[in-house]
Amino acid sequence: MKLLVIGSGGREHALAWRLAKTHGLQKVFVAPGNAGTASERELENINITDPEALADFAAEQKVHLTVVGPEAPLAAGIVNLFRARGLKIFGPTREAAQLESSKDFAKRFMARHNIPTARFATFSDRGSAHAYVDQQGAPIVIKADGLAAGKGVVVAMSLADAHDAIDHMLPPASQGAAATPARVVIEEYLEGEEASFIVMVDGKNVLPLASSQDHKRIGDGDSGPNTGGMGAYSPAPVVTPEVHARAMREIILPTVRGMAADGTPYTGFLYAGLMIGRDGSVKTVEFNCRLGDPETQPIMMRLKSDLLTLLDHAVAGRLDLVEAAWDRRVALGVVLAAANYPGTPRTGDVISGLPESSEDSHVFHAGSSEQDGQIVTSGGRVLCVTTLSDNLKRAQKHAYDLIVGIHFDGMQYRRDIGHRAISR
Ligand code: AMP
Ligand code: GLY
Repeated sequence: MKLLVIGSGGREHALAWRLAKTHGLQKVFVAPGNAGTASERELENINITDPEALADFAAEQKVHLTVVGPEAPLAAGIVNLFRARGLKIFGPTREAAQLESSKDFAKRFMARHNIPTARFATFSDRGSAHAYVDQQGAPIVIKADGLAAGKGVVVAMSLADAHDAIDHMLPPASQGAAATPARVVIEEYLEGEEASFIVMVDGKNVLPLASSQDHKRIGDGDSGPNTGGMGAYSPAPVVTPEVHARAMREIILPTVRGMAADGTPYTGFLYAGLMIGRDGSVKTVEFNCRLGDPETQPIMMRLKSDLLTLLDHAVAGRLDLVEAAWDRRVALGVVLAAANYPGTPRTGDVISGLPESSEDSHVFHAGSSEQDGQIVTSGGRVLCVTTLSDNLKRAQKHAYDLIVGIHFDGMQYRRDIGHRAISR
């Protein structure tokens, strides 16, 4: 049996690595993959990214199931395309993926279905956006409407920053004649602790994955600009059984029911970014129509169930028949990023000192590629050093001990991954 994973990040490396443990498997193709997926025995990179060409490949190779990692191909309708050709694929359709690809769609959806989230208003006119911000005051959050890999968001602590963000995201009226005018969503600032709540959905039934927590800012102590995520661990202690129950009851189940009722049933991984208030209240910061990166790396380290069995049940609409089993231990992943990330990363730096993987550690690759027999950096987030241990402190120490041996010029990483759970 053959499987296909679409994407090239750490999330896809972790997914493919876990799928490769499937009994009776011949091969997991990764399209296009990275130097890490190239180096694993059961995985094979294929250099195809065009959706039609991927569907041709899946058909020719008789791929049993395709799993999509990133949001861009989902938002472009790769699931619609594969289904139209009778090919098995796990992910949301283009229409359902709007929960991530359009902030405006997501906010209206949540308002319509009473799903708790920050108050908001949408603007394409600069003047009105500025006036709204003046009326609401700071702190306030300004988001570009559209896919921005977590980077189209400004959490403005002052009015001046909010006005700057609007000027940045909305063109002046004289230039506003584009086919799809730029829009911003302006949101109430939510206070609390964030967690990543990721589930599998088959259109109707929901199977929650283990909880996790990301570290979005580039710098220690959550300082500096937002990134795609600099490290993660699972489980997230802030997701108590009460928070879990509320997230399911108030956010996930109404979302799955609402999408079905609206005629855009949701299938695929669904990621709710939660803001958990001191009072235990749970609000939706955002939806992603995919697994998180780097959350997937620790989550896959902990998954004990056979992933393909879960995916097969999901595609068949029978997630009500399965449960996921998790390693009781804690998994933690530290991202090593390239020079200048989250700006345009420098590429081509030689990576050395990669450790062997073991039962309780694995280095997942993201922006890495092979060049003249060497592994070099080729993207912003380069590696995610992921470990599994009895407790978070030990997992953290193990990860940082491994990092000491790894080198590339300009390597940046946070020294405090796991700090929230440890200070609890
Ligand atoms: P998003 O791309 O919507 O996930 O936003 C990226 C990050 O900005 C989130 O993970 C939060 O840390 C922060 N953020 C987004 N919206 C809000 C909000 N309404 N209140 C506070 N922080 C927010
Ligand atoms: N780590 C955050 C995300 O995947 O969106």
